Amino acid sequence: MLPTYLAKWMSRLGTENAFVVLAKARELEAKGKEVIHLQIGEPDFDTPSNIIAAAKKALDDGFTHYGPSAGLPILREAICKEMKKTRNLDVKPDQVVIAPGGKPIMFYTMMTLIDPGDEVIIPNPGYPIYESVANYVGAKVIPLPLLEEKDFRFDPDVITKLVNEKTKLIVVNSPQNPTGGILTKEDLKVIADLAIKYDCWILADEIYSHMVYEGKFETITQFNGLPERTILLDGFSKTYAMTGWRMGYGVMPKELASYMTQLQTNVVSHTASFIQIAGVEALSERTDNAVNKMVDEFKKRREVIVAGLNRIPKIHCCMPHGAFYVFPNISAYGIDEQTFADRLLNEGGVAGLSGTSFGQYGKGFIRLSYANSIENINKALNKIEDFVKKI
Ligand SMILES: Cc1ncc(COP(=O)(O)O)c(C=O)c1O
Repeated sequence: MLPTYLAKWMSRLGTENAFVVLAKARELEAKGKEVIHLQIGEPDFDTPSNIIAAAKKALDDGFTHYGPSAGLPILREAICKEMKKTRNLDVKPDQVVIAPGGKPIMFYTMMTLIDPGDEVIIPNPGYPIYESVANYVGAKVIPLPLLEEKDFRFDPDVITKLVNEKTKLIVVNSPQNPTGGILTKEDLKVIADLAIKYDCWILADEIYSHMVYEGKFETITQFNGLPERTILLDGFSKTYAMTGWRMGYGVMPKELASYMTQLQTNVVSHTASFIQIAGVEALSERTDNAVNKMVDEFKKRREVIVAGLNRIPKIHCCMPHGAFYVFPNISAYGIDEQTFADRLLNEGGVAGLSGTSFGQYGKGFIRLSYANSIENINKALNKIEDFVKKI
């Protein structure tokens, strides 16, 4: 029950369980219990040193003042080059909005596009903030099931039935949180065709675009007519281990960018100026080596965690193709995923998240992040093996 002084729409706002579980895990640690953290989606690596040096220099150079709401021109230019290099996408700086993280772009997208009652298609299980902010603005959320038997992709017949004249926005996230699944070019084409047929917008959350372990990264913006109706979200948190810096961006049609910029002026004015300068360094080729090393390391950890989980009786874990999450099926234990995750933390000393923290189609699963050292992953696997014997 919410306090009566709160505005009614606060009852529609959700949250991100990873932060709740992190707090619980820290409490246990304060009591002297060892906890392996596989709950939070953040690289355990330090931000590459050239980026840190660029931020320090930017402070000395006086990037300590207000700047343009959409972001500094030099970073918006660099993002345009990044779009060309990684997606063969031609965009101009006035199509780019830099924000304090990728998350605000989700919020701005819903705030600028959605009227109460508009339908929004959201992958499920999916990153919980999409549903939270869609509900907050009064959208009708339509879950798109992602299926274990399809490697956590969707059934094209199902999405074709879900999209209609009332659909205003389709959220696409590939590589995906929480499953590590990747949509194929064919999957993306199905969505692109529906978006054109029903005149919908797309929020393409491509924040894990650099973390693809087989084949190449595919973007929905490659299809004709899609750049004109897509807000492409990417950022610095995951690729450059910059979660705490708070910087991400959206790339979209120029007119929409101007309205999102207006919204940003009303909320945060802009992202810290010296951090944006560090962002230019992050996008430079001087950081390529560090990124490649991190991605290679994630790939090794993926093999260790998937093989280890599949060795544990009754757990089934698909091989994820991107990001740094596994989404093992624990339903054979006969307890629900929330109880499993709670007990795994309290009795087993491993922090993970219940699959239903990501929506109802996460039932029977837990999410573990492998953004942790191989040593800790092996420790966690031993702890999970000991824990399941007690169920
Ligand atoms: C799919 C997805 N999009 C966006 C974000 C948010 O990133 P940022 O830290 O840049 O706000 C996350 C963070 O976990 C994520 O998993």
